[in-house]
Amino acid sequence: MIREIKAQDLNTDTFITEKVNEIRAAVGSGTAINALSGGVDSSVVTMLGHRALGSRLRTVFIQNGLMREGEPEVVAAFFKSLGVTVEIVDARKEFLDALRGITEPEEKREAITQTFYKNVFGRIVRESKARYLLQGTILTDVDETVAGIKRQHNVFAQLGIDPQSTFGYQILEPLIQLRKDGVRMTGRALGLPEGMFNRIPFPGPALAARIIGEVTQTKLDTVRRATAIVEKRLAGSGAFQYMAILHDDRVTGMRDGKRDFGRQIEVRCWDSVDARTATPTRLAFEVLEALAAEILREVPGVVSVTYNIATKPPSTIEAI
Ligand code: XMP
Repeated sequence: MIREIKAQDLNTDTFITEKVNEIRAAVGSGTAINALSGGVDSSVVTMLGHRALGSRLRTVFIQNGLMREGEPEVVAAFFKSLGVTVEIVDARKEFLDALRGITEPEEKREAITQTFYKNVFGRIVRESKARYLLQGTILTDVDETVAGIKRQHNVFAQLGIDPQSTFGYQILEPLIQLRKDGVRMTGRALGLPEGMFNRIPFPGPALAARIIGEVTQTKLDTVRRATAIVEKRLAGSGAFQYMAILHDDRVTGMRDGKRDFGRQIEVRCWDSVDARTATPTRLAFEVLEALAAEILREVPGVVSVTYNIATKPPSTIEAI
């Protein structure tokens, strides 16, 4: 049974000292490894691990090619400014290969999970000889695993490592007693900037969750460009989450006086408290027009831009 530490009972200084000591005691003179995604949980774990182990913690950022514009470089540069070296591992080809020909949403998600754990991160962990893996699991992840919502939990099994037969592998989950609010408090106390905590949610499968049908390099480039425009233009909207979705079907358009059988981008912008239910934000028509104009101008091949006005349920927030 995991003892929950509620945000109102959390003394971040005591918590950080305790966790740093625990990590040091566990790892001893050995080395540890962790994967950083740039999200809150993995960022806080990186800072804790770094405080405990310094350069004996190896932090890798796996570039899966599904990220938003500049994301790996921005995350690595940001941690560098805090004195933490982040190693970017280029696994773009492996992920694209794994996604080739897959159109079914759950199969897509599975291919990404498998490629991440078994192929890429699993290989890095095995080759690193690090016996300790730092993981940003929080109490909500455990609850959701128990409830069958997430299938994330047994991380070693996912990595293809049997901790029993492979001597000494150990997983450290310093945030497991906390929920998101406690993690944020800890992050602030560790010196992570405010901007890190008020970003809109972004899904694990990244831009692949926003491509209907097969994920290809060209489609990734298209949705990535459109995403950057939507995020820039709707940043001040106060909405819960906003995104660009790339449709698989094509529609006829006109460009430079010629018929152009092109792509369609669907913009979604949601009002929501907890993502369980959501309604489309009543954006001003001028905002939508300007957004459409920029997407049509800047994103090659796109001839149609639509705004989603369905609610969740029955819609979901993401497209796959
Ligand atoms: P849906 O699309 O199910 O999304 O209405 C609800 C919220 O969860 C996010 N989301 C994910 N987050 N891994 C994540 O970490 C995922 O596979 C995933 N799928 C959806 C989504 O962005 C929204 O905030």
